[in-house]
Amino acid sequence: MHLTVVKMDFPQPNLNENITKGRFKGHVAVVTGGASGIGRECVRRFANDGASVAFLDINKDRGREYEAEAQSEGHDVTFFNVDVTDRKLCFATLNAIAQQHGGSINYLVNCAACFIYKGLEATKDDWERVLAVNVEGYANMVQACHPHMKKAPAGDRCVVNIASGSAFVTQPNNWVYQSSKGAEVEMSKSMAVSLARDGIRVVSVSPGTIWTSLTANIVDHDKELAQSIWGKSPMLRRCGESAEVAAVVAFLCSRDAGFITGTDVKVDGGYTAIGPDGHSDAVGRKQTLHSKSTC
Ligand SMILES: NC(=O)c1ccc[n+]([C@@H]2O[C@H](COP(=O)([O-])OP(=O)(O)OC[C@H]3O[C@@H](n4cnc5c(N)ncnc54)[C@H](O)[C@@H]3O)[C@@H](O)[C@H]2O)c1
Repeated sequence: MHLTVVKMDFPQPNLNENITKGRFKGHVAVVTGGASGIGRECVRRFANDGASVAFLDINKDRGREYEAEAQSEGHDVTFFNVDVTDRKLCFATLNAIAQQHGGSINYLVNCAACFIYKGLEATKDDWERVLAVNVEGYANMVQACHPHMKKAPAGDRCVVNIASGSAFVTQPNNWVYQSSKGAEVEMSKSMAVSLARDGIRVVSVSPGTIWTSLTANIVDHDKELAQSIWGKSPMLRRCGESAEVAAVVAFLCSRDAGFITGTDVKVDGGYTAIGPDGHSDAVGRKQTLHSKSTC
């Protein structure tokens, strides 16, 4: 297979993590899927910004490992081995987390996902598992957090549901995962209107292709290859980093985002906005056309 390596004109800039240190001091954040990828970076960023963080994941080994790493760096980070489809366990865990932290929870980030990319060949089990984790699991967590979030100080209550660019643009044979991500975006809007009266903001975040173990496994951890495959499409001509998604999640939870709710925020380098003729060569041709147009 011939692959063109795409030049990255605008690599990832340094994040403002030093400036935001301490902004969540005394606040409690809960993150699902926190043992890996975007979820793990959300845990790290909340901890960097001063929050106490509880993260839930089915991957016990990676969860324990990251908990130990974060604690050794002096952060208040605790791991809970929870499958978000286990509704009863979600409620019991959130009760325990709230109790440990004076009764309230400020932020929830739903990130845990099941990735089954199938279309015509999808089975009943595929549908049930993906919808149970990606849709019902997100709802379970919001329901379990709700009574504790209402007790947090007004202005410091927020839910972020990690959706995907797949909710907006399509790929072949992606019926199952794509439906679940579309559902997350729509469900987030309904959650936002339901919870506004409790002062809880709800936002979905839709990443483009992000370098995580999910994407790394597809290309045998070859980042240059990933860049040649997925880095070509976004306006910014590169894959994103988990830390860049986490930075947006933390911003959305902060008071600086106090007037944002019921919407989706795309963190995709412009991927979902651009059409097939959007890149420079085609744009060059278009400009020639435009220069000839009359009105
Ligand atoms: N990586 C990307 O390119 C990309 C792009 C768009 C959207 N997303 C979204 O970002 C989120 C995170 O993706 P990622 O790439 O970091 O994936 P990842 O595989 O690195 O992390 C997902 C984590 O969720 C955990 N998990 C899975 N099922 C669970 C369950 N039932 N209960 C609790 N934990 C569970 C896994 O053990 C894993 O640690 C997902 O919602 C995904 O749809 C990712």
